Amino acid sequence: MPELDSATVDKLADTAEMFLADWGEGFSFRRKPIGVGATAAVFEVSKKKAKYALKIYSERLYTGEKSTAQLHRTKLQEKLIGHDCKSLVTIQSIQLYKSSCICLMEYLPWDTLKKCLAKIPEDKIQILVDQLIDVIDYLKSVNLIHRDIKPENILISPDFCSLKVVDIGVVREISGAEDRIDGTDTGKLRPFLATAQYSPPEYLFRTFEPSEDLWNAVNIYQIGAIVHDMIVQKPLFDEEVHSGNRYKLALAVLRSKPVLGAAAKSRESRLAAIAELALIKDPVLRNDLVKISDFRTPKSERASEALAGILGKISINAKHQSKLNELIEEKERYCSQKIETIVAATIASIHSNFEHSLKCNRQKSKSTLHRQVFQIKLPARQIKESFFLEFDEIVDPTLDEINVILGREHGSTTITKIVGTMSSESDLLEPGIMTHAFEAICEQLKANIDYNGL
Ligand SMILES: Nc1ncnc2c1ncn2[C@@H]1O[C@H](COP(=O)(O)OP(=O)(O)OP(=O)(O)O)[C@@H](O)[C@H]1O
Ligand SMILES: [Mg+2]
Repeated sequence: MPELDSATVDKLADTAEMFLADWGEGFSFRRKPIGVGATAAVFEVSKKKAKYALKIYSERLYTGEKSTAQLHRTKLQEKLIGHDCKSLVTIQSIQLYKSSCICLMEYLPWDTLKKCLAKIPEDKIQILVDQLIDVIDYLKSVNLIHRDIKPENILISPDFCSLKVVDIGVVREISGAEDRIDGTDTGKLRPFLATAQYSPPEYLFRTFEPSEDLWNAVNIYQIGAIVHDMIVQKPLFDEEVHSGNRYKLALAVLRSKPVLGAAAKSRESRLAAIAELALIKDPVLRNDLVKISDFRTPKSERASEALAGILGKISINAKHQSKLNELIEEKERYCSQKIETIVAATIASIHSNFEHSLKCNRQKSKSTLHRQVFQIKLPARQIKESFFLEFDEIVDPTLDEINVILGREHGSTTITKIVGTMSSESDLLEPGIMTHAFEAICEQLKANIDYNGL
């Protein structure tokens, strides 16, 4: 939805000023808005040197058919006055005034996440994500869901250490009477409330009846989208949004699979992997694969152990199988291509006349989906005997085992194949980590080939 136009904002400023005069609490008012959204304008007001943010909603929400639902949401916001969630904006008061509604909140002179996306330091991402999860969990504990988690509704402190979620204008109850009162998520007419760019397909197209599971899937997707934006440093479906064609955007929400792998550096790879799963289109599969708590800083010292724990919890049933296979195959294709290129390039650099016919066979073990065997066959070459002994030291923790299978040819020791079994953790990690291990092997290869024999 587009932002309110300046004439509407001007009118809202008049109403806000009138409200403050009628209220008689001695607030002074600044006419220049500090923020404008699709449904409201936010102004700075102050009293005895303390600053507050005053949000005034567009009158169209509180008049006509939609007003019953809107009044219900206003009541829900009222319940949040005095909440104790540090990362959720605090509300001082919310009052109906003339044909509008006015909310007084704490003022946060911070940038929106949208504005500072490209500036978030890598080591602050997890800290900020933890705070976002605090908000989602808090709202859940009082049976509410925000529904409009997006970078415009998240404010970030200048040191990038704190985050606050604002704009609780479309909160709703997760379960309970609201389905009857609200009317926005049930029935034939389901007006779209949140933002298309950050809505999962089932929510954008309203293909599901509201349920706790649906809301959980929406939460997971929206957290995944925020993690995506922080890691990729660009908004989700940015190109489609800029095309100005809303059908293109809708199609992307429905079909286009965001990939974080290439942008994720090794320290972020755990969050990136979880976000990729969180952005899966199918809400049932999404709910099965990701828990909101997976986004939190792992309690265990080793992130890889925590990841293994997550993988351990995943139980796959036949319904999910084909979708999962698609994901896994894509990742496998990427890995084997990368490995082949690295090994081929290394061998070529060792000796230009060196003929190589490289084969990378992936064998999936039947017992678990997260175990893959990469088998690289190198043509028989001479290597130093000591090479075998040094191998242990270069084994990457994400590899369960690496075996170098040695053979004999014309009286010399040769490598016939290298077999690496990826540990379950590596499945969810950025594929680059796996190739890292193979790069290390190639380095060892280089150092140990007996050039005299070639
Ligand atoms: N408490 C606050 N302190 C400082 N700035 C705020 C505060 N609340 C909101 N803003 C700013 O005002 C903008 C609009 O506010 P808000 O998101 O609540 O309006 P909205 O019309 O409901 O938005 P939407 O377009 O998501 O419906 C925000 O994006 C943010 O930049
Ligand atoms: Mg907003």
